[in-house]
Amino acid sequence: METFGIGIAGLGVVGSGVAKNLVKNAELITQRTGFKFEIKAAALRDPALAHGIVDPSKVKLTTNSMELANDPSIHIIVELMGGTDAPRTLIQESLKNGKAVVTANKALLAECGEELTALAAHHRKPFGFEASVAGGIPVLKALREGLVANNILSIHGIVNGTCNYILSQIAQTGSTYGAALAEAQKLGFAEADPTLDVEGFDAMHKTVVLAALAHGFWIPQEMVHVQGISKLASEDFAFAKMLGYTIKLIATVKSHPDGAVEAHVQPTFVPNRHVLASVSSSFNALAIKGDVVGETLFYGRGAGSDPTASAVIADIVDAAAALSGGHAPHLGATHSLYAKIKPYEETMAPYYIRLGALDKPGTLATIAQVFAAHQIGISSVFQPKDHPGDFVPLILLCDTAPERDVRLALAGIAGLGVVNGPATAIRLEEFAP
Ligand code: HSE
Repeated sequence: METFGIGIAGLGVVGSGVAKNLVKNAELITQRTGFKFEIKAAALRDPALAHGIVDPSKVKLTTNSMELANDPSIHIIVELMGGTDAPRTLIQESLKNGKAVVTANKALLAECGEELTALAAHHRKPFGFEASVAGGIPVLKALREGLVANNILSIHGIVNGTCNYILSQIAQTGSTYGAALAEAQKLGFAEADPTLDVEGFDAMHKTVVLAALAHGFWIPQEMVHVQGISKLASEDFAFAKMLGYTIKLIATVKSHPDGAVEAHVQPTFVPNRHVLASVSSSFNALAIKGDVVGETLFYGRGAGSDPTASAVIADIVDAAAALSGGHAPHLGATHSLYAKIKPYEETMAPYYIRLGALDKPGTLATIAQVFAAHQIGISSVFQPKDHPGDFVPLILLCDTAPERDVRLALAGIAGLGVVNGPATAIRLEEFAP
C-alpha cells in the first residue's frame, strides 16, 4: 500500500473540509484507489485554531507555509490559503522540490495559471485545480478527460453561487438587490465585502480557467469583459419574466471557426425553456457543447466546505496516481489550435434594451432609425401601459449584432433628446442549436 504525505496550507472552510473528509472516507478512498493519505503538516495563521480539525499529536502545525514545501515527508501540497503572493511562492517552491500541488485558488490561476502550469509541466509534477471552478462539480476533469475528443464550441456557466442566490431571490420574491444581498450575507452565501462576487470578478477568474482547459491557452484576465449584478434594476427582472426569460450571471466561453475565442461574464437573459434558467439558489451549473458529444450539462454546489473538499480530494488522488506511476499528469496542456482572443466589441449577441422614452408620437420611429442606421434589426417592441410621466419605459428586443454597433447605436440614441438617460442593455442568450 502506497502512502502519501499531505501538507495543507490553510485550514479554513475548505482546508478543514479536506482534513475532515480525508479521515471520514479514508477506508473508501483507500479501497478504491489503493493509496493511503496522511496529513503530515498544516500551515495556518493561528495553530490554536487547528484543534478539532486535525490531531496535533500527528500533524505538525506551523505558521510558515514554506516549511511544507521543504518537508520531505510531504508528497502533495494542498494550497488553500487565499491571496496570491504567498500561494504563488509556495506552489513554485513545492513544484521545484518535486512535490505535487493541489489548489482551489482561482484568483491565482487567473493571474499566473500559464506560469504555474508550465512550471508543473517542466518538473513533470501534478498540479490540480479542480476546486477552482464550480466547487464540487468535476467540470475541469470533464474538459480534460471526458471531453478530450472535442473541440469545445461553447461553455455557458452559472459559476458564482453568491450571484445566483441573489438573482434567484430577486426573480422569485421580487425583493430588491440590497435586500437579497443582505439575505445572502445572513445565510453565509455572501461575504461581508461582496465585491469580488457581485461585480463578477470571481466568475471572471473561473472563466479564464475554463477557457484554458477548453482551448489550450490562458487568456489574460484583463481581456475578459466583466459586468456584475449590482447595477441591475428590479424592473428588468419583471420585464424579463413577462418576456419569458430569467436573468442569470453567465460566464461564456465560445470558439469560432477561425480559431478565435470569446470569453466574458455578464448578466444575461436566459430563456425559461433552457435548463440554466431553473438553476436557482446558490447552485452552479455549466452547459458545455462539444463538436463530437453535442450538449452536456453539469450541476451542483459551487462552494462550501464539503463540496469544495470533494474536488480537492479528487485532485489529491489524481496526484497520487501520477506520482505513483511516475508519469506526468495530463494537465489539459497548452496547444496552439486556438490562442486568439475575440475582442468583446466584436462579439455578437441579441439584446434586451430598455429606454426611458419621451411619450410622444414619432419617438419610436426616431429610435428605430438609429438602430436601422447601424444595421441592427428589432424583433420586438413593448411599452407598458398606463405609465405616468413624460417618459415611459420602452423595451426593444434587438436581433444579433456586434457589441460595437449596439454601443454606437445606444450612444446615438442618447444624444437625440427623446430619452431621459442611458439605456439599459442586457444580452440575450438563445442557446442556438
Ligand atoms: N464565492 C464563490 C461563489 C465561491 O459564490 O460561488 C468560491 O468561488
